[in-house]
Amino acid sequence: MWNQDENTITAEVLSRLQNTANPRLKQIMTSLIRHLHEFAREVELTEAEWLQGIKFLTDAGHITDDRRQEFVLLSDTLGLSMLLIAQNNRKPQRCTEATVFGPFHVEGAPEYALGEDIANGAKGEPCYVNARVMGLEGEPVAGARVDVWQADEAGFYDSQYADNEQMRARGTLHTDQNGRLQFRTILPVAYPVPSDGPVGRMLSATGRHPWRPAHIHFMIEAPDYEKLVTHVFRDADQYLRSDTVFGVRSSLIAHYQQHPAGGTTPAGERSDERFYTLDFDFVLNPSSKVP
Ligand code: BEZ
Ligand code: FE
Repeated sequence: MWNQDENTITAEVLSRLQNTANPRLKQIMTSLIRHLHEFAREVELTEAEWLQGIKFLTDAGHITDDRRQEFVLLSDTLGLSMLLIAQNNRKPQRCTEATVFGPFHVEGAPEYALGEDIANGAKGEPCYVNARVMGLEGEPVAGARVDVWQADEAGFYDSQYADNEQMRARGTLHTDQNGRLQFRTILPVAYPVPSDGPVGRMLSATGRHPWRPAHIHFMIEAPDYEKLVTHVFRDADQYLRSDTVFGVRSSLIAHYQQHPAGGTTPAGERSDERFYTLDFDFVLNPSSKVP
């Protein structure tokens, strides 16, 4: 019908969805339109503000390419990504919690044997990780595929460098018969998310900082268990309570133990420099279990 006003137009738009064949699409579109209209009415959105929003989304599109995903960053910084992770990863309390995937995972990271150095030239203080992957009853998960990735001491992932010829500070390993995993890497540091685009402007306009607390990313896959995408955060980081993407869970904060130069590393060698060790247990949810 015609002659819609600012209140009646919502029902009219929704009525045009009646021929949507896919019921889930119909449900999503209905809710989206309802909330969008309600939002515009609630804030009495002006035409100039609407245009500013359109320009923001256009800029996000222009800056997005194979290496940069501004829309995911927007979802992350608005807390939408963590909301989705929370509602799609409900599991028993003893399981390791999931957190954001982030934009810096790369397919095809090099395979490393247990104990090897995945830094592969990335700069940073040495850090030796000793982890276990187990099920809910403490049973070891042997042969789990573990993808690891992290930023270097400058706060950059290898993929953020223009001369990104070889993968650094990322790798794929498999747990041994006892579900154990050891590797050498570098100490993670806090870093800002890319803030030279529209998301960065949104953060500064709303008085927010772009920092993430120091963390190492883990993605763990094993038959009969749910895939786990998570981080292990460093305790005593100043951004733990204000992570710009809301990804911190207290259960994922661990102590990275500092050792003075001259000490013996977990690899059994004397270290001329200061180094760190991290011990962490990952508990996977069996595929069929819901809380
Ligand atoms: C990350 O931890 O790699 C990350 C997560 C969300 C947005 C940007 C970076
Ligand atoms: Fe990260």
